[in-house]
Amino acid sequence: MDREDVLARTRQHVQEVLGEESTGHDWWHIERVCTTALAIARGEGADPFGVGLAALLHDIADWKFHDGDASVGPQRARAWLEGLGVEGGIVDEVCETIACVSFKGAGVETPVPTLAGRIVQDADRLDALGAIGIARTFAYGGHKGQPLHDPRMEPQQHATFAEYQQKRTTSINHFHEKLLLLKDRMNTETGRALAAGRHAFMEAFLEQFADECAGRK
Ligand code: NI
Repeated sequence: MDREDVLARTRQHVQEVLGEESTGHDWWHIERVCTTALAIARGEGADPFGVGLAALLHDIADWKFHDGDASVGPQRARAWLEGLGVEGGIVDEVCETIACVSFKGAGVETPVPTLAGRIVQDADRLDALGAIGIARTFAYGGHKGQPLHDPRMEPQQHATFAEYQQKRTTSINHFHEKLLLLKDRMNTETGRALAAGRHAFMEAFLEQFADECAGRK
């Protein structure tokens, strides 16, 4: 099977699996990550095939929806790609990328050994920032039954993956616990430049939110 066919069939497969998902990890998240990842790949001189496949499959079974089991995604991706006859080295790289991409808490390092992985991780993190990031944060908070904001609850920096998964929080605290940390964790120059603009937009949003809570605006 040629590369265009593999990408087209993977696209369709992911669209079918994630289309109805409503917590911010739906098909359009994948579409945006894929577009951003390919744009970064052009700048970095990376192979668009591996980057495209990893971007399409990166949330195929996110750990947040499988009781913390981070191995489900790579296993499903491997089964799918092997079924299409994709060459072993590329399958390994794509699965390694998917295993590394998820954010697991402020104190948890998630180094990515491959260029494709660093690019997809940047693209995925960029989709958590800016206007899109704000929209996704409240969609996900609603799904988890979290309050929008509770001034009695302080933001916390989670030292471990288990803590990050279990602690009760608010959508506004999520900006401090995760989203505002991401701009310093970008892997590529292009990613860093995009993150700076989106970070500034979120800071402006949080300032306005605080002003409205205090009756200042
Ligand atoms: Ni994602």
